[in-house]
Amino acid sequence: MTQTTIKFLMNNELHSVEHVDPNTTVLHYLRNDLNRCGTKEGCASGDCGACTVVVGELEKGSVKYKSINACITFLPSLHGKQLITVEDLKQDDQLHPAQQTMVDCHGSQCGFCTPGFVMSLYALNKNHPSPTKDTAMEALSGNLCRCTGYRPIVDAALNMGNYPCDQNTDTIATELLQTINRQDSTFLSNQSSQYFAPTSADELAQLLIDYPDARLLAGGTDLALEVTQFHRDLSTIIYVGNVSELKTIRETDSSLIIGSAVTYNECVHRLEKEYPELGEMIERLGSLQIRNQGTIGGNIGNASPIGDMPPVLIALDATMTLRRGHNTRTIKVADYFHDYKVTDLKANEFIQSIEIPKAKPGYQLKIYKISKRIDDDISAVLAAFYLHVEGPQVKSFTAAFGGMAAIPKRARHCEAALMGHPWTESSIESAMQALMLDFKPLSDVRASAEYRMDVAKNLLMKSFLEINQSKEQENTATRVTGYA
Ligand SMILES: Cc1cc2nc3c(=O)[nH]c(=O)nc-3n(C[C@H](O)[C@H](O)[C@H](O)COP(=O)(O)OP(=O)(O)OC[C@H]3O[C@@H](n4cnc5c(N)ncnc54)[C@H](O)[C@@H]3O)c2cc1C
Ligand code: FES
Ligand code: FES
Repeated sequence: MTQTTIKFLMNNELHSVEHVDPNTTVLHYLRNDLNRCGTKEGCASGDCGACTVVVGELEKGSVKYKSINACITFLPSLHGKQLITVEDLKQDDQLHPAQQTMVDCHGSQCGFCTPGFVMSLYALNKNHPSPTKDTAMEALSGNLCRCTGYRPIVDAALNMGNYPCDQNTDTIATELLQTINRQDSTFLSNQSSQYFAPTSADELAQLLIDYPDARLLAGGTDLALEVTQFHRDLSTIIYVGNVSELKTIRETDSSLIIGSAVTYNECVHRLEKEYPELGEMIERLGSLQIRNQGTIGGNIGNASPIGDMPPVLIALDATMTLRRGHNTRTIKVADYFHDYKVTDLKANEFIQSIEIPKAKPGYQLKIYKISKRIDDDISAVLAAFYLHVEGPQVKSFTAAFGGMAAIPKRARHCEAALMGHPWTESSIESAMQALMLDFKPLSDVRASAEYRMDVAKNLLMKSFLEINQSKEQENTATRVTGYA
């Protein structure tokens, strides 16, 4: 059965929407349809956090809260969820701890960014009532403030543990959310656009056959920018975030299989257990708001030359399963990218899952993300090296780069200069020279071609020095303790 009404909770009240333009963002709806103007519009591209709202979702019988950017979230994707905005926080004339702490720590000056910060703090308070500096910094990573210099806001976050815990028990929300039918697919349309939210992979596959020009929507952190930045109207949208098969993480003896619609924050803990370096990299991918929504499937599907996951997946020799109708095929992530934004994806096909081999004994993964800021910034260059050095010799070496060509790509000449060669500075220097045969990078707003090439070469040397340093430390530790 298909439902034609989108239902969600506005705080703790059931709210229904029909016949809305599926391109409507949550921010637009709040400000223009509901006159809830507490949520601000700064950039309309997910960069500033002024539009941060909190979404609650039922997970194993209770509500889990996360901060998201309302400006790049399409309204229909709220079906079955709870939306909380800054207007909902004050209870019985009492400010919420997330608000009171901002007042007490002088975290607001002009106030434009404040509702966004308060909502990030609200989500932090729900998930970590007494936050550490790390969790506080992570929660605030997607919010910009031009006035305060941030210190008072960080103080406000750390001070939140001093207030009585949020007494709102979420039972009302849990009960109300359980009344919304999330099993059946949803469909919404107005005169010019239509929106489908299937709940199974079979349904999704059929929809793509019926509507070959439809745009797939996962987290929307790339796709929504086509609407908010390029002012395009997407005529048919298929939301994959409710497709159960695409939301699973499976494990075999040799690999992890991540459904394409699994968000970064849903899989980061499993991935970092296998590859701690990958966990660190994901913590620098976008902001917390972006990682709460964005998916690996969307990162690959967007096919940007500066997407962070593809070079890592290529270096790890990951594969992906693509589905069209009832047929599936598996290809290497490395073979997916043909040319700038040209991929192996055929008409009616979608990315079902990504299979990442588990860490091989003796291998090391090194990932370097070069961007102008640590948090919430797109890479100028991303390098991923996966290597095995045994004794004095390089037994295996795979190198992949983002930001160095029109597509994320392996550095075959560089790899050949190291494979089977001694693990020495002079081999690394040859590999650095070989990079010039692999890539002719472009200059753009993020970096010049010369900078990109220099930095790529230097990252090779950096990995060499770091690996040798950690070997030396291991040897010293073994000598001191006497244990191998
Ligand atoms: C502020 C900001 C910061 C960002 N920072 C980073 C960063 O540091 N590093 C980085 O790599 N990216 C970054 N991004 C880009 C974006 O967040 C990522 O690319 C993210 O992984 C996209 O996932 P999504 O689920 O939001 O994709 P969506 O926007 O939903 O989709 C992206 C594309 O993939 C297609 N697609 C989605 N799912 C499928 C599927 N199952 N099969 C086939 N095609 C599909 C869509 O049709 C669309 O063309 C940033 C974006 C913003 C707005
Ligand atoms: S308005 Fe800037 S992130 Fe949404
Ligand atoms: S208080 Fe002015 S932008 Fe933050």
